Amino acid sequence: MPRAERRSAPAVGIVGATGMVGQELLALLERRRFPVGSLAAFSSGSFRKSVRFRGRACAAPAPTTAALRRCSLIFFVSADEVSRRLAPALADSGAWVIDDSSAFRLDPKVPLVIPEVNASALRPDRRLVAGPNCTMTGLAVAGFALHEAAEVREVRLASYQAVSGAGRAALLEFFDQAARQRAELRLRGGKAPVPRARKASALPRAIAGNVVPQVGSFDDAGESSEERKVAAELRKIWSAPGLRVSVTAVRVPVVRGHSLAAWLTLRRRLAPAAAAKLLANAPGLRFFRDGYPTPLETAGSDPVYAGRLRPGAAAGELALWIVSDNLLKGAALNSVQIAEELLRRRWLS
Ligand SMILES: NC(=O)c1ccc[n+]([C@@H]2O[C@H](COP(=O)([O-])OP(=O)(O)OC[C@H]3O[C@@H](n4cnc5c(N)ncnc54)[C@H](OP(=O)(O)O)[C@@H]3O)[C@@H](O)[C@H]2O)c1
Repeated sequence: MPRAERRSAPAVGIVGATGMVGQELLALLERRRFPVGSLAAFSSGSFRKSVRFRGRACAAPAPTTAALRRCSLIFFVSADEVSRRLAPALADSGAWVIDDSSAFRLDPKVPLVIPEVNASALRPDRRLVAGPNCTMTGLAVAGFALHEAAEVREVRLASYQAVSGAGRAALLEFFDQAARQRAELRLRGGKAPVPRARKASALPRAIAGNVVPQVGSFDDAGESSEERKVAAELRKIWSAPGLRVSVTAVRVPVVRGHSLAAWLTLRRRLAPAAAAKLLANAPGLRFFRDGYPTPLETAGSDPVYAGRLRPGAAAGELALWIVSDNLLKGAALNSVQIAEELLRRRWLS
């Protein structure tokens, strides 16, 4: 980038740059040629770490307020507690803060934004902006065209969530468990081992060879925190406070890419052919008229994917299969798209 251009480009900070979302964020800033005047990368600081950006190594120490105050755009991709502690004061002092944690998503003063759906929620005086839950994002993008055309009044949903959605520690634990299962098969001379429940620490149960109907912690009514987030955030993003949402959130042994089986009940009748046309033209969505997307075949790519559109059993109900990369559209890509929208509006310099 020429020096004059670099001087006018934002000073970018990334808190959590060494994590899975942080690494995707760095790659996206490069790939999408986002103007970065200077980069300040941060990690937990527990080990000496660095990240690579535009061919150079950049040290990633623990964040300090002094270092963050030199940034005009800060991405928070670390943990709720870190965002809660640092983000509001930085936004108050004039920096744009895009937070991928769940700390502020339901705060009425904080816009919760998916640019294809509700870029209009961005305001020049609301500098702390939240990105949504990665499970909800696919549904919010895929279902929005149907909601605009015929008003979705009820959503029923089962999720099949990748292990990377729970962070790097969960993914490492999954790979260790899978390697142990492979070793057991060899030890038993190829005879199928009877899987044994193993201890898990990053997730509530072992995930290799398993399916776990718990994402987050349960409340007194038996609903998980992930299920509550999906419902509340969808109502906020679609500005649909009366929307009824039932969710069963499930972790599956998939590396990346969350899948959803969704049933949407519409207030106004919409024939499947008309719905297919809307989905084929929806921004950010790639719709399969035939066949269907899977996480393995779509991981690492930007769009939300949908297929298997068909009528449901109830009146006005449509069934849809949705897949999206939790680390990209579910997190890093959405945050970069928010920043691009701020640039486009000339609110960020
Ligand atoms: N994974 C997803 O699919 C997804 C989707 C949507 C939103 N999110 C959100 O994005 C954030 C990051 O998720 P992730 O999956 O990338 O997690 P991760 O792989 O576990 O990475 C966490 C990052 O945060 C840093 N960190 C941890 N504690 C810190 C502290 N006290 N101060 C500063 N930095 C600290 C870590 O640094 P070290 O390298 O030093 O440990 C690492 O860079 C979370 O808030 C998560 O809820 C994740």
